[in-house]
Amino acid sequence: MKKIEIFFCTFLTLMTGCSSVDIIIDDFESGTYDRWTIQGDAFGNTPIKGTYPEQQEVKGFEGKYLANSFNQGDNSKGTLISSEFKIERGYINFLLGGGMSNDTYIELIIGNKSIYKSTSLENSETLQWITWDVKQFKGQNARIQIVDNHTGDWGHILVDQIVMSDNQISTLMINHKISFKADKKYLLIPIEDSAQEISTRLIIDNETKGVPINIRLAQTKISYWVPIDIEKYRGNNIDLIFSQIAKDNLGYSQIKQSNDFHFDSNEKYRPAYHFSPKYGWMNDPNGMIYHNGKYHLFYQYNPYGSVWGNMHWGHAISKDLKRWEHLPVAIAPDSLGTIFSGSAVIDKNNTAGFGKDAMVIFYTSAGKTQTQSIAYSLDNGQTFTKYKENPILTDPNIIDFRDPKVFWHESSHKWIMSLATSQTITFYGSRNLKEWEKLSEFGEGIGAHGGVWECPDLFPLDYNGQKKWVLFVSINPGGPNNGSATQYFIGDFDGRIFKADDLPYPIWLDYGRDNYAGVTWSNAPDNRKVFIGWMSSWDYANQVPTVNFKSASTLPRELKLIHNGKHLVVGNSPLKDIIDLRNESKKIKDIQVEGAYTIDKLLDKNDGAYEVAMTLITKGIDRFSFTLENRRKEELKYSFNLKDEVLLTDRSKSGITNFSEKFATEEIKASLVKKNTYKIRLFIDNASSELFINDGELVSTNIIFPSEPYNSLKFEGNINVQDISVHKIK
Ligand code: FRU
Repeated sequence: MKKIEIFFCTFLTLMTGCSSVDIIIDDFESGTYDRWTIQGDAFGNTPIKGTYPEQQEVKGFEGKYLANSFNQGDNSKGTLISSEFKIERGYINFLLGGGMSNDTYIELIIGNKSIYKSTSLENSETLQWITWDVKQFKGQNARIQIVDNHTGDWGHILVDQIVMSDNQISTLMINHKISFKADKKYLLIPIEDSAQEISTRLIIDNETKGVPINIRLAQTKISYWVPIDIEKYRGNNIDLIFSQIAKDNLGYSQIKQSNDFHFDSNEKYRPAYHFSPKYGWMNDPNGMIYHNGKYHLFYQYNPYGSVWGNMHWGHAISKDLKRWEHLPVAIAPDSLGTIFSGSAVIDKNNTAGFGKDAMVIFYTSAGKTQTQSIAYSLDNGQTFTKYKENPILTDPNIIDFRDPKVFWHESSHKWIMSLATSQTITFYGSRNLKEWEKLSEFGEGIGAHGGVWECPDLFPLDYNGQKKWVLFVSINPGGPNNGSATQYFIGDFDGRIFKADDLPYPIWLDYGRDNYAGVTWSNAPDNRKVFIGWMSSWDYANQVPTVNFKSASTLPRELKLIHNGKHLVVGNSPLKDIIDLRNESKKIKDIQVEGAYTIDKLLDKNDGAYEVAMTLITKGIDRFSFTLENRRKEELKYSFNLKDEVLLTDRSKSGITNFSEKFATEEIKASLVKKNTYKIRLFIDNASSELFINDGELVSTNIIFPSEPYNSLKFEGNINVQDISVHKIK
């Protein structure tokens, strides 16, 4: 009977395309793992009927049973290894769900070789069909393993209905390859920010280059393009292999070679005088160092899209911190992980042995765990060599273990590293930049702890001839107005231990919502402490309405200890050199405001990049405000309340605000010291506002997206406004 069926079907296959019967590898309906070897406890002893108690409802499986590694919750680990079977059909179809981490996967193994490895497409308890194309392996023996090596959120996998078939069920193509003969400068990839990330391998003449990159290949519409530089591979064969891609995906058929990469680099919200990446995503400033007449600014960078991911170090240089030149990417991800934030030093005495005056950079390798790595440059930062013994500092017990900032501590004659370690900062010491010894830990029970501590920086500042040490710590979330912000501590450091003075912590460097992860330049001339921050917030940075690039840096600021009338603060005001960027200035006569007064036209032609400077003299009245406005009634308002000693920034009607619910929710509060005079400098640069009061004693930096520049300034209350000037900035 069977023979006849096979014969009949073979005959029919030839005639009509009828395919052979499916072969079930396992549908788990026996209620046992008889066909599997069980390791660990994640899968329990038997398949289960759907959902474990405590688990959200599992859906999309067939029959009664499935393999579910939620046994004992997300933290359990385990593996199921199938008995060997022969590949007898063109496809293996199966249902897959659970977590999308790389440590929860189902894998096809032939011999000892991994042929396919699939992870759930999203974190979901609903299983979906996946198909592996195994035509080329027909006749060979294979095994499948189902692995749950992930602990923590979504640390489980769901599998059902593993079936060999001549029909492909899934609409996903797994390990889909497209090939080119390289004959132009770039491969242009179409991107859609909301599309799912697809892990993509670049293969040149059968050799894999680097580690896979995650690309949000346009699925339904092309938002913008990103280039992959292939000039050096001219004449070679290039394969791009997408780990999984929907059959109806729009993007992969559009990928093309080109000698040009054009985009609107002056799109509407591009700043005129702040640093921003040429294209792609930027967050923290990294590795800032002055060397041989150049300020280097490295930064957290995604060259393959305008949202966070694929962290590299981007690179730019400047001779004066006013104009920047973009350089090629400095450091790319490797097998240890993507490249997170860090710092740079010049090894003047060759303590590491990489060479005299080597530029040594420190970064976090963000892989399965976070570890610290180093690389060095002997050509002024143009190229870097990664140290072959990386990582140089590990601690598997600390999940958030990152952002090394290193400096030379002359009196103890050693290098000091400040490292963010969960919600403390740990200091390490080293004589050679490679071996590090823990010195002390700071932070428990002091300062703000509403989020993870990141991006520390420890440095000295003088106050009236006395040396004080300042420790910057960025925190996210948990800032004074929610979201991301930088707090600091003032105290003493003896080469081992930082001891904070008794001050009313938390104290914030900037009370606005958009100054994060900033640190200072190493080696800056004239002993200046120059700071730059990332001018955005994790609350909405990925959603802001720019297209080809995302984020800018703050203005470079000079840090000084000043007294605000109550206690010492770190004053941060624009670097004095920024004044050179003023290109047309207009003086406006003093105003005595009684009730209200509006300067109708700040500039005859306002293109959105300017500074307003003025001095406000209070007249014993507690409340007054000034508001920038445009013709569409969009506004940015600063309200002073001297009685409560608070300054409020209101950007709720500032322009486009609806890209994130977190953008314009509350007023942005800053604690203000009651004074008679407030010297104001307010910098606007298309999509940003930086308000400096009394030489940076109080600062509020906030991004904005007005539909046209604000060009009038309205005062309310009873105050005198003096020394008013408006400067175009170019
Ligand atoms: C701060 C941060 C750092 C990390 C980097 C990753 O914004 O979270 O702690 O190194 O961004 O891009």
